[in-house]
Amino acid sequence: MGKDSQNSQVTVIANLKGGSGKSTVAFNLGLWLQMKGQPVVAYDLDPQCTLGDVAEVRREEGYAPPLVVYQNTEKLKDILRMHPGQVLVDVGAANMEAMKQAIVNADRVLIPVPPSQPDVWATQRFIEIVKEAVNNGDGPDLYAFVNRADTHRAVRESDETEEVLAQLPGINLIPHRLCQRTIYRRSLSEGLGIFELSKRSKAVEEFSIFADSLFPNIKARKKLNS
Ligand SMILES: Nc1ncnc2c1ncn2[C@@H]1O[C@H](COP(=O)(O)OP(=O)(O)O)[C@@H](O)[C@H]1O
Ligand SMILES: [Mg+2]
Repeated sequence: MGKDSQNSQVTVIANLKGGSGKSTVAFNLGLWLQMKGQPVVAYDLDPQCTLGDVAEVRREEGYAPPLVVYQNTEKLKDILRMHPGQVLVDVGAANMEAMKQAIVNADRVLIPVPPSQPDVWATQRFIEIVKEAVNNGDGPDLYAFVNRADTHRAVRESDETEEVLAQLPGINLIPHRLCQRTIYRRSLSEGLGIFELSKRSKAVEEFSIFADSLFPNIKARKKLNS
């Protein structure tokens, strides 16, 4: 699966704008993977350090298992693939150099996009930056999805945002949006995954479908063993 190693898959979670949900998604994906028995480490390369902070809250509260979050920004080419299993990398525009290095060395980039025109514009810019970083060569696969979607069906922004994302060249649309739900805020403040906060809720249902689509092999393997 990995570019250089059979054993690691590097997923960068990125976008130019803050508040799109990068750290929220990275944290919950990390815990979800651990719940599925997958080895996972995370890197927080954003100077805001949200992912590092929330992992620290989780550790202080004694919730198990902890999520291991590294914050090295140097020599990413060498270190990202040292870890067998899943490697999640949270990056922000405040450190563009680290963002580009992570992207160049990733298998795929996951791009959360809130349903708004400025966020769509920022995503288009971001794709340009990715293309530049990989020199228009063999870059990572790019996956965009709508995060913070409105829960009211009458509101059309999320549909429209998905339509635009689906048409962007080089982008794969993940057709499983995550809605704006308060449980994500609790997740970050308490250091727990949303599925640890609630066994059954719309948020958990949505997230499970989303995560299953990102890691289809994990689901299949579980079935085989059971
Ligand atoms: N789907 C969502 N529903 C509700 N709140 C969300 C959602 N995704 C993110 N948030 C909230 O938005 C804020 C910014 O999210 P964060 O993950 O820190 O964004 P980023 O890392 O892209 O800057 C946080 O308070 C987070 O809890
Ligand atoms: Mg963040």
